[in-house]
Amino acid sequence: MTTRPPDGAIVIRRRSADDLDRCEALLRIVHLQDSYPFYLPSDVRGFVADPSALASWVAIDGDEVLGHVALHPGSTEPVIRLATEATGWPAAGFGVISRLLVAPETRGRQLGLRLLARATEEALMLGLRPLLDVDTSKPAAIALYEGAGWRRLGQVTSVFEGGSLDEFVYVLD
Ligand SMILES: CC(C)(COP(=O)(O)OP(=O)(O)OC[C@H]1O[C@@H](n2cnc3c(N)ncnc32)[C@H](O)[C@@H]1OP(=O)(O)O)[C@@H](O)C(=O)NCCC(=O)NCCS
Repeated sequence: MTTRPPDGAIVIRRRSADDLDRCEALLRIVHLQDSYPFYLPSDVRGFVADPSALASWVAIDGDEVLGHVALHPGSTEPVIRLATEATGWPAAGFGVISRLLVAPETRGRQLGLRLLARATEEALMLGLRPLLDVDTSKPAAIALYEGAGWRRLGQVTSVFEGGSLDEFVYVLD
């Protein structure tokens, strides 16, 4: 039987280059189980470790990566267009929370919420308005965002490598 330490033992810290193999492995598992990302990009490493990211974090337990989140300066064109039109906020004023994932066996222990809070805190610290987009067919993520007080601005269709996807766009007021 596998026993896990109490949740307090799971630490959220900045992602380092040494974490990337484990982040990529976790992303592949989450893609297979949850279809996130819906279209697995050809460059999985580049998707997780998008060089344009402002910051990124991992949730770790010892050597194990149990979760990940990043803060990006932008998103797809339809997402940013809706966000600017709906809020009057300039495109450069948003901090987009992205690449949020939690290991399947660690779900339901507030880790998603903690990762979301960490990236949100960083966006606010940088003077950016927190924004995110989510596949409309992801009820767990949608419940997480709405439970944390995010406001749905509307729905767009974004084009990714592999195809298009309907997404809800959320902002934190
Ligand atoms: C979405 C995800 C990150 C949530 O991670 P998690 O650690 O299990 O979430 P938390 O334990 O922090 O949940 C916080 C709240 O979100 C909501 N929530 C989370 N998972 C839920 C589910 N499966 N069904 C309903 N509500 C859910 C609940 O309100 C929960 O609060 P509660 O536990 O007090 O009821 C995780 O399911 C995941 O990695 N999914 C696949 C990747 C993905 O879709 N990422 C989003 C990309 S935009």
